Parts: sequence; C-alpha cells; structure tokens
Amino acid sequence: MRVSFNASLFLFASCALAHPAYLAGFVSERDAPEAPALDILAREPDDYGVFKQPGPNDIRGPCPGLNTLSNHGYLNRDGRNIGIGSIISKMDEFLGIGSDFGLVQVVGAGFRGAFKTTSSGLVLESYDVLTESHNNIEHDASFTRTDLGLGGSAAVNATLVEQMLSFSTDKVNLSPQDIAQARHVRIADTFNNNPTFTMEQKQTDALWREAALIRLVVGDKDTGNVRLDWLRSWFMDEKLPFHLGWQPHKLGGGVVDNIRHTNEFRDMEKEINAQTGDNFPITF
Ligand code: HEM
Repeated sequence: MRVSFNASLFLFASCALAHPAYLAGFVSERDAPEAPALDILAREPDDYGVFKQPGPNDIRGPCPGLNTLSNHGYLNRDGRNIGIGSIISKMDEFLGIGSDFGLVQVVGAGFRGAFKTTSSGLVLESYDVLTESHNNIEHDASFTRTDLGLGGSAAVNATLVEQMLSFSTDKVNLSPQDIAQARHVRIADTFNNNPTFTMEQKQTDALWREAALIRLVVGDKDTGNVRLDWLRSWFMDEKLPFHLGWQPHKLGGGVVDNIRHTNEFRDMEKEINAQTGDNFPITF
C-alpha cells in the first residue's frame, strides 16, 4: 500500500496532537533536548491528585468533567483562571480523552465566549462563566442538573443521577442503549415540565455529544458499557473512580470516536421516538 508523504505527515501530526505524551517515543535520547533543571519547574502541590470536596470559596459549574478535575487538583481547585492548555492536557492524562477532542471542545467553547485573554494566555475566568452560559454552552435536559427554568443551578441533583443509573438493565452497567433510554426520559421531562426550554440544534448536539463523552471516559472500549459504581462516583461525588479500579484509557478516544458515538446515540433516540410514538420537535 502506498501512503503519500502528506498523508503520513498528517497521520503523525494527528497522533502527536491526540496524545502528546506518545510523541516522546519518536525522539531518540541523543536528539532529545537536555531536560531543564528541576528547580525551575513549577512544583505540583502536595495534594495534587487527592480528591477533596470543594471549599466554601471554590467555584464549581455544570460540567462534571471539569469539576472533577478541579476536585483532584489537576485543574485549579478554586475553579478560577483555568488555562485552556491545562484543560486539554488534563483531559488527556486524567480522563483518557484524546487531545484532538480536547482542542475541538475548547475551540467550540471559545467561539461561544467562554475564555478571556490574560497575561498568562486564554483562561476560563471561572466555572460561573459556564453556569451563566444558558443555551449557549450550558443547556437543559442534563443527566445531573435541574433545568434552569425549574430552579436549576450548578449543583448536582442526586435524584436525577439516581434516575439515570436506574436505567441499567443488568443492574451492574449502563449499556449505550440504557444511556439512550435515560437521555430520552430527560428530554421528555424537559418537554413536558419546563415551560422555558430551548431545544435546537446547538442544544441537541450537546446532549448526544455529552452522552458520548460518558462512554469515552468510563465506558468499556469495546462494548461501551459503563459500570454503575464508576459513574455514580463521577457524577454524584465528582470524584474519579480510581478507588474502584478505574483508570483513564491509554490512547483514549478522540474526535473520531466521539463523533461515531454521538451519531449512534442520535440514531438510538430516533428509534426510541419511533417506538414510543413521542414526537418531540428535536433537531437531529
Ligand atoms: C474535561 C473534559 C470534559 C468532559 C469529560 C466533560 C463531560 C461532560 C458531561 C458528561 C456533561 C453532561 C453532564 C450532564 O448531562 O449532566 C458535561 C456538561 C457540560 N460541560 Fe463538559 N466535559 C468536558 C469538558 C468541558 C469543557 C472544556 C467545557 C467548556 C469549557 C465544558 C462545559 C460543559 C458545560 C457547560 C456542561 C453543562 C451542559 C448542561 O447544561 O448540561 N465541558 N460535560
């Protein structure tokens, strides 16, 4: 098989971007630049990686991914001035999401005004920016948060999380089909009970993209099954389930996998609509 130089370069660049840590393997020890002296590197705090509940002055927002990284100190614990480079690299290292997806996610949020320029680069000023981005980035029908029009805020709604977990058919995992059913019920809740919702292309894209993210972070790579205890830890406590044997996927899924799973969830929603006769005006 002939592979053109451009194609090889593209492939190499994509892999490097998706998993920068693996780029190291392409640089021989002799060619590698001398490592900087350790004392000029910023040292991580002693509690780096340790799960802690946010303190009274720490800010948290509507995203279980970012909140959780802050609860472990991988991103600033106070929930302020989060650099976009850190978001991308910590997503890769501690959630197992390829940096190509991180980049797309951050660029998408950037176009919607999430970041501001500071002397240290582009930052998310605080998670409040996300909480206040209703229908721009934040949206209704979440798995973990009450809709804004029904009194929602950045806080986790434990009843909603348990409702989602209750869709497990085998009582051990949520299969992709179970997640699609749970998603459908949340959409129905919003349509039936929230007089102020907006459900257009932007919001529905996010609904299925986020379902796909769950699969990327805590799902089995082949089946997509998500262990209930892992998801409960992530969504309820916003704690990475290391203590339950979870590890971030090495060479985890990126843009390609996210698009594939997003489309699968969207198709499952169409099937559920057809089966139930529900006719929510969802934009596919
Ligand atoms: C670190 C990797 C990330 C992961 C694993 C992740 C995961 C998720 C998931 C699963 C949800 C849905 C929660 C639910 O249905 O209740 C969500 C919601 C959300 N995420 Fe993230 N996310 C990540 C990064 C980001 C980034 C970079 C931003 C923006 C800067 C962001 C902003 C949001 C917002 C605003 C919501 C709330 C949407 C809603 O209204 O339900 N997330 N995230």
